[in-house]
Amino acid sequence: MRAAELFRARFGGTPDGVWLAPGRANLMGEHTDYNDGYVLPFALGQGVTAAAARRPGRVLTLCSRQEPAGTVEIALDGLAPGRVTGWAAYPAGVAWTLEAAGHRVPGGCVAIDSDLPAGAGLSSSAALECAIALALTSIGGLDIPRGELVTLARRAENDFVGVPTGIMDQSASLLSQAGHALLLDCRSLETSQVPFDPAAAGAGLLLVNTRAKHELTDGEYGRRRAECEEAARRLGVPSLRYLTDPADLDRLDDPVLRRRARHVVTDNQRVLDVVGLLNAATGALLAPGGTTPPSPPATSTYHEIGRLLAQAHVSLRDDFEVSWPEADVAVEAALAAGAFGARMIGGGFGGSVLALVPAPDGSPSEGPVRDAVTGAFAGRGWTAPEFLAAVPAASARRLDT
Ligand code: GLA
Repeated sequence: MRAAELFRARFGGTPDGVWLAPGRANLMGEHTDYNDGYVLPFALGQGVTAAAARRPGRVLTLCSRQEPAGTVEIALDGLAPGRVTGWAAYPAGVAWTLEAAGHRVPGGCVAIDSDLPAGAGLSSSAALECAIALALTSIGGLDIPRGELVTLARRAENDFVGVPTGIMDQSASLLSQAGHALLLDCRSLETSQVPFDPAAAGAGLLLVNTRAKHELTDGEYGRRRAECEEAARRLGVPSLRYLTDPADLDRLDDPVLRRRARHVVTDNQRVLDVVGLLNAATGALLAPGGTTPPSPPATSTYHEIGRLLAQAHVSLRDDFEVSWPEADVAVEAALAAGAFGARMIGGGFGGSVLALVPAPDGSPSEGPVRDAVTGAFAGRGWTAPEFLAAVPAASARRLDT
């Protein structure tokens, strides 16, 4: 409960509560969210915590254990994009979108802590937005449905911070369930929980933070998004989601746009394929009334999912061109060392790789895949990667203090 300690040290007194919002990994569906497509992320055990208390007045005072420079004061009146920059733009943006949606944000003090590596492509920004959204709405007595909070947190990032991200990260942080991946249809915004418990089948999820810092604000992300929109425009569809047959893309003369669109169309299908495999393996499709007890997925399911992960990496590397050298080396080393599959996750150009690995003793972060990736990085003189075992966890929540 380090956020509460920080609160006491910086502000004195006891916070009204402490809220945790998790980061996310994404099993399948990359750069599909802003194309109205499908994504299948899951929440991580790691996240951002915010210890908060209401205070009279119209000022939010923030501090963060990861930003030792001191406290930041945000005047709630007259808040507008551009007025707050740096890390505090994320919390300020949440306050701004809440007010713009007609909710009165209370003044208060908020102490923030995170155990998510920043810049690792694990959605530390969305986790910060979602932790603040929960903290502010809770201390302000605002009762806002989760689905609406997702939209507001995303708007903070798009319209206040100015990064044109999709809706996956905030959805994963606010809507996930432990032991499940979250299937989100980004066109209808319908969600469903897909049972996802690799440990039950002797498999595990290993995140490799390649330590190549990922920056969404550097323009490449926005460029990919614009290319997808241009491809859809030339093909006469509202978004690439409306296409399912890669052969339809032959009508695109531009080879770059054709590759971008092919990634999106094939990745949407891979999401549905993974969902089909997981649902079939747990018996969910066979037991709509819940009469047949679900059985844990067999290892063969994970072999199949692994194959799709490896395919997705090739698609992100060659068609969407958002991978980076450390990710390619980590994926290659992981596959050679016996991973079922591996791929880069998130926006790209830095961040993390997700590997699905055999873990008969329940510890995916130990073993041959870790050793192989470590060796491959050392052999190139690169900074050693960081490994995290990922377990599909619960969504943002209040912690007991
Ligand atoms: C970032 C964005 C998401 C999504 C991914 C790529 O994480 O925040 O909205 O577009 O990149 O799948």
